[in-house]
Amino acid sequence: MTSSVLNAIYKRRSIREFTEKEISSEQLYEIVKAGIWAPSGLNNQPWRFVIIKDLDVKEQVAQQTHYGHIVRDANALIAVYLSKDEMYDTVKDIQSAGACIQNILLAAEALELGAVWLGQILKNKSDVNKILELSDNFDLMAIVALGYPSHRNQKSKRKEVSELLLKET
Ligand SMILES: Cc1cc2nc3c(=O)[nH]c(=O)nc-3n(C[C@H](O)[C@H](O)[C@H](O)COP(=O)(O)O)c2cc1C
Repeated sequence: MTSSVLNAIYKRRSIREFTEKEISSEQLYEIVKAGIWAPSGLNNQPWRFVIIKDLDVKEQVAQQTHYGHIVRDANALIAVYLSKDEMYDTVKDIQSAGACIQNILLAAEALELGAVWLGQILKNKSDVNKILELSDNFDLMAIVALGYPSHRNQKSKRKEVSELLLKET
């Protein structure tokens, strides 16, 4: 297989343990930029981002999820939001956010960083907004935890295409 895109898709794993090595601002901006280059309905780009590196803010965010240990261990977080003012169709805007988050994960992979999509925290999204001093006009879609991976021993599996293909006409 020669496609670097396909390689990244297959090679990417959720990384939940990180070293203490710093991620630079340039790397974080590149990752957000990759997110922004995801497709969105009508190209409305409804996403907004918060980059979190501050230890005190990170700790407060960690307390909002069962996966707080991952948040604490991560070197940086990217909170991905939808701006309700920019939305035009709930389903399509949420799909766009998903595409954006996947681009973020793949960009982290391309930069040899590790990342994991954290969704469980959404049950406390209003509290996360309070911590980040954002109004409820911003709807949290996910927090991506990022860092240099401690190891790359993660395993994952998927069902076979044949199990999932409903029909081929
Ligand atoms: C919508 C969504 C929410 C997720 N929430 C969490 C989470 O809260 N905590 C976590 O550790 N992983 C979370 N994950 C990561 C999944 O557990 C992971 O992608 C899945 O097990 C497949 O593993 P892989 O990413 O290594 O292929 C989430 C993934 C998605 C797409």
